[in-house]
Amino acid sequence: MIRAALFDLDGVIVDTAKYHYLAWRRLAAELGFVFTETDNERLKGVSRMRSLDLLLEAGGFPENSFTATQKEELAARKNAWYVEYISRMTPGEILPGVLPFLAGARADGVRTALGSASRNTGIILDRLEIGTLFDTVVDGTMVTRTKPDPEVFLRCAARLGGIPAGECVVFEDAEAGIEAARAAGMRSVGIGTPQRLKQADLVVPGFGGITWQEIKNQLSTKV
Ligand code: BG6
Ligand code: MG
Repeated sequence: MIRAALFDLDGVIVDTAKYHYLAWRRLAAELGFVFTETDNERLKGVSRMRSLDLLLEAGGFPENSFTATQKEELAARKNAWYVEYISRMTPGEILPGVLPFLAGARADGVRTALGSASRNTGIILDRLEIGTLFDTVVDGTMVTRTKPDPEVFLRCAARLGGIPAGECVVFEDAEAGIEAARAAGMRSVGIGTPQRLKQADLVVPGFGGITWQEIKNQLSTKV
């Protein structure tokens, strides 16, 4: 039986990847190189500081080109631009089908949680006006280990009153997130393509036209 549905934020509820990309590209331009959309794919689901390392690698900077303090400054500069972009978001940017899907799960008595690596989760939930649709939120400011570590999802389950991992399903668009769900002992639904999200129990392209009951039925045949 599934009693809790745990949702990643970026790439599942809303497409913030485009704003992350704009901000990282702007930083790359200041550092004197072009950061392509293909390079940006590697940054999805990855923490802010790890993303910076990948960006610097793409720019051809040898590993110790910047001190820890300089890297903090670069990440802060990127984040200031990112916050500027997401502060203009509207509820119209919630991905198709998300709201009816969440409503369907809640109507079925399922508890809902948001589990994100982002330290900007609060701003995004406010801008999208969906904070009240989740019984609990665990974000990047509350965890010490990022995905693929299961901490964020285990914390969600604990905050929902200790729902056993076997009764939770995670919705994720990143491979690291699917890995985190598996490490937590939870079921997982990949949002994307089966080629990329091979480890997920089930993969759907998005929430458009898919109901909570359908997902629940499909997962129950896989136990
Ligand atoms: C994840 C995104 O949800 O959060 C990553 O997929 C991002 O791209 C990470 O780097 C951290 O986000 P933030 O908002 O704290 O920089
Ligand atoms: Mg994501």
